[in-house]
Amino acid sequence: MVPGVRDAPHVALGRNVILKNQMNSKPASSRPEVTRRSFLSKLWAGLGFLALLEIGALVIAFLRPGRKRASETGAGPMVTAGPVDKFPVNTVTAFVKEKFYLARLSDGGFLALSRKCTHLGCTVPWISEAARFECPCHGSAFDIRGEVTRPPAPRALDMYSVSIKNNVIHVDMGRAIKRGCFDSAQVVYP
Ligand code: FES
Repeated sequence: MVPGVRDAPHVALGRNVILKNQMNSKPASSRPEVTRRSFLSKLWAGLGFLALLEIGALVIAFLRPGRKRASETGAGPMVTAGPVDKFPVNTVTAFVKEKFYLARLSDGGFLALSRKCTHLGCTVPWISEAARFECPCHGSAFDIRGEVTRPPAPRALDMYSVSIKNNVIHVDMGRAIKRGCFDSAQVVYP
């Protein structure tokens, strides 16, 4: 500007606007900060929304009428063990994935036994040469019926409900049945 010469009003106004804009504009270095902050807040909002959706789905699944856990109904996952003739008498067959033994007694009857020791819960292997279950933890032993033959196990191996339909054996794994000792009424015959 030339000293002593005044700007026309519209030129002065334009200059004021430019000066104002320069004063209001933030430094270039703070712009990425703002962008990062808004990105993070959007990300958190999205994650929060997803968490809410998940909680909602869990609540609905839990409250859905008529839905009961297998252990409550007693009718749990059914395992089809196979045809009766597949299991010779006096043998024990391990169902490793399903975690039980199917024992066929000398009279042809069936028992499905838990593989969990009733002392402290170790897995008991069937020792076919000795014809008994032997717990590796504290030495308990059980016969083919799951009956205790050597303590400290306090009671017979738990069992699962067995049913035979059309000569095929089914085991209900929904609930382990506790028992004090073996009883012939527990055996299921073809
Ligand atoms: S857990 Fe089997 S004897 Fe102790």
